[in-house]
Amino acid sequence: MSNDERTFVMVKPDGVQRGLIGEIVSRFEHRGLKLVGAKALQLDEELASQHYGEHRDKPFFDGLVEFITSAPVFAMVWEGKDATRQVRRMVGATDPGESAPGTIRGDYGLDLGRNVIHASDHADEGANEREIDLFFDESELLDYEQATDEWQYE
Ligand code: RTP
Ligand code: MG
Repeated sequence: MSNDERTFVMVKPDGVQRGLIGEIVSRFEHRGLKLVGAKALQLDEELASQHYGEHRDKPFFDGLVEFITSAPVFAMVWEGKDATRQVRRMVGATDPGESAPGTIRGDYGLDLGRNVIHASDHADEGANEREIDLFFDESELLDYEQATDEWQYE
C-alpha cells in the first residue's frame, strides 16, 4: 500500500461558521496525514450540484445544495497511507447522532443536515481523485518531503 494516497476533505459551512477549521486540521495533522492543498471558497450552485451529483434524484438534494452554497467552506487535500478510508473513519457516520464519540461528526455534530465535514467515500472507487480534480488545479497541489516522514512510516 502506497503512503501517498490523496483524499478530498471539506469543512462545510456549519463547521466554518462554528470555528472548527483549526480543530479539524489538527486532527488530520496529528494522525500523520500530510496537507498537500487547502483553500477557503464559497461554492456556487453548479459546483455544488456537480459535487453532490450522485444525490441528484434524492429528496434532500435541493436542501443540500442550498446549504452547502450558503456560506464559505474550507477545502483540503490530505495525503498518506490508506488516506481515503482512514479519513472517513475519523469523520464518522453520516448522521452525527449515530457517529461514534471520538469521530469528528460524533464530537462536533448532532444533526444529519449539519454534519460539519465532507470526505471522499472510500467505497466509491475513484471518488477521491474525481473530487480533488473538481476542486483543485494541479498547480494548487504540493508534492513535498516532510522531516517526520521516516518517523511516520516504517
Ligand atoms: P458527505 O458526502 O457530505 O461527506 O456525507 P456522506 O458521504 O457521509 O453521506 P452521503 O450519503 O453522501 O450524503 C451527503 C449529505 O447529504 C445529507 N443527507 N441528508 N435527509 C437525508 O436523508 C440525508 N441523507 C444525507 C447529509 O448532510 C450528508 O452529509
Ligand atoms: Mg458522500
